[in-house]
Amino acid sequence: MNAPLIDPFARAITYLRVSVTDRCDFRCVYCMSENMTFLPKKELLTLEELDRMCSTFVRLGVEKLRITGGEPLVRKGIMTFFRSMTRHLESGALRELTVTTNGSQLEKYAAELRDAGVRRINVSLDTLDEKKFADITRWGRLPQVLRGIDAAQAAGLRIKINAVALKGFNEEELPRITAWCAERDMDLTWIEVMPMGDIGNENRLGQFWSLSDVRAAYAQNYTVTDLAERTGGPARYVRLEETGQKIGFITPLSHNFCESCNRVRLTCTGELYMCLGQEDMADLRAPLRAHPDSDAPLEDAIRAAISHKPKGHDFDYSRQRLDGQMSRHMSHTGG
Ligand code: GTP
Ligand code: 5AD
Ligand code: SF4
Repeated sequence: MNAPLIDPFARAITYLRVSVTDRCDFRCVYCMSENMTFLPKKELLTLEELDRMCSTFVRLGVEKLRITGGEPLVRKGIMTFFRSMTRHLESGALRELTVTTNGSQLEKYAAELRDAGVRRINVSLDTLDEKKFADITRWGRLPQVLRGIDAAQAAGLRIKINAVALKGFNEEELPRITAWCAERDMDLTWIEVMPMGDIGNENRLGQFWSLSDVRAAYAQNYTVTDLAERTGGPARYVRLEETGQKIGFITPLSHNFCESCNRVRLTCTGELYMCLGQEDMADLRAPLRAHPDSDAPLEDAIRAAISHKPKGHDFDYSRQRLDGQMSRHMSHTGG
């Protein structure tokens, strides 16, 4: 039995987020610049290499695998990779195989995801207004995503909607988005916008909508009860008693949750980022490729990397500045 992955702050690393592509068919303003350049295909881990990487992490105690991007479902052959991970669910080593998606390809892939053992997915959706959706995603079309959500529900996938809370953008939509999720029996999680990527002309500070305020907005119309239950990610949940629905809050700015961090991130080129908000990373592609017949050097490299996982991010808007800002785009590390 392998020793589990424990970081210098005694946190067990049991959750691996894997970005399988840096590409996306949308260009959300807080995530990518409009004229992103993408990595040449030869830089990417192949599907077989992704399998070897993930299987090694599973052997080292990772129980939850979330596939991200870019948009993970635009990666060619991605269902082959999902199906190759099914064996870890069947053996009981993996508790959850899941995906965070913009929803654009769900119509095509929902049933196959379910067949591969995926039970619950997170769909990023910040607005139900078609025009605003086109503005924030630059390239996205809302009806396509809504059809994807329908297909996913029809395939029996449980859905959680992720909405980035943005002042002056979706503030007034809170009741509508909440009611829409309740009608469709979907959970909803709000995320505080983080200072990542090419901020350009955006006013991130002005857009920042603290989830303490979102919670207070709910409390005006609902009885809000804190829930102890977690989903293995950073969200804290409440229940709105009047509708019974579950609302999550991901609060990197207003309430740092790094103390209970259980995750690391693998990029599509095999870099392991120990924290979303730090530059610290280790190249795992080199030991993987240098030793095609043995995973021992890769395991050693993973352990060495985890041994310097930082305490947390330094994002802070309290001085009315974007302290802790990262030039790395969110699409690089997969959120
Ligand atoms: P569940 O399994 O449903 O709990 O999902 P999750 O919250 O772990 O995954 P999801 O992809 O839905 O994450 C939503 C967003 O939360 C990400 O895109 C990030 O914006 C943010 N997030 C997730 N993990 C971290 C983290 O470790 N640090 C910070 N600062 N933000 C995170
Ligand atoms: N701040 C917070 N969340 C972000 N996401 C992308 N960029 C940011 C950011 N700067 C979220 C998306 C999606 C997930 C993949 O990452 O909305 O839910
Ligand atoms: Fe694409 Fe997701 Fe980034 Fe939007 S947030 S550009 S959907 S990777």
